[in-house]
Amino acid sequence: MKYGRVDVSGPEQCPDEGRLPDAGPSSPADHLRDVFYRMGLDDKEIVALSGAHTLGRARPERSGWGKPETKYTKDAPGAPGGQSWTVQWLKFDNSYFKDIMERKDEDLLVLPTDAVLLEDPSFKIYATKYTMDQDAFFKDYAEAHAKLSNLGAKFDPPEGISIEYDSKTVAAEPFVAAKYSYGERKKELSDAMKQKIRAEYEALGGSPDTPLKSNYFLNIMILIAGLAFLTSLVMN
Ligand code: HEM
Repeated sequence: MKYGRVDVSGPEQCPDEGRLPDAGPSSPADHLRDVFYRMGLDDKEIVALSGAHTLGRARPERSGWGKPETKYTKDAPGAPGGQSWTVQWLKFDNSYFKDIMERKDEDLLVLPTDAVLLEDPSFKIYATKYTMDQDAFFKDYAEAHAKLSNLGAKFDPPEGISIEYDSKTVAAEPFVAAKYSYGERKKELSDAMKQKIRAEYEALGGSPDTPLKSNYFLNIMILIAGLAFLTSLVMN
């Protein structure tokens, strides 16, 4: 991936709404080509990118597609419901291609634009390959996703920032959420974060030289609780 994308400053710098592909056009293969070819993507990339549907769900109240819930989504973490394309829809693998090929589980979604990947002769070459070769899918998906992500993006510096990464010699650092919330990382707060914390502290009346003002209400509540506790001890 190329890093250093510059955010736009407002919606006027974004493409118009309504340019996403339609899931149920009259001619799905022509429609997919209309949408993706104009961005310089080819049949292989259309099929590989469609494999992103190995993750996630469609919800009738959003897109109009999918069931309100299925056996795979009714107990979902977060917001249950919707219809997924795959059984393990939080795991990225090639099961999307296997499932749209088999189409034997009515709880799994197959949009017209998914089904066409195994009907159109050119799309079918890649979709069939990905059902059998997950590594080929991962490789083609990664390349197509990077290409799609970089389309029309501005970078600072203009050529972007590339991080050389050799997966054979450098083991990827596993993500450990706790590292980012307490412990050693605390010592590594950025200057911006330190300023933010300082501003919040000062807004509450604190400063580097003056401790926070005492909270009288809290002190009185603690005193009352202490007296109640002592009274109950004496009464017993
Ligand atoms: C090929 C044409 C495509 C069509 C017609 C299409 C259509 C759709 C539809 C109808 C939904 C359901 C939205 C909802 O109800 O919330 C959806 C979800 C999704 N799409 Fe696509 N999509 C296409 C391509 C892509 C591509 C290229 C990607 C990414 C590279 C992608 C990633 C996703 C993901 C991850 C979800 C699930 C979102 C969620 O769980 O909230 N799709 N897509």
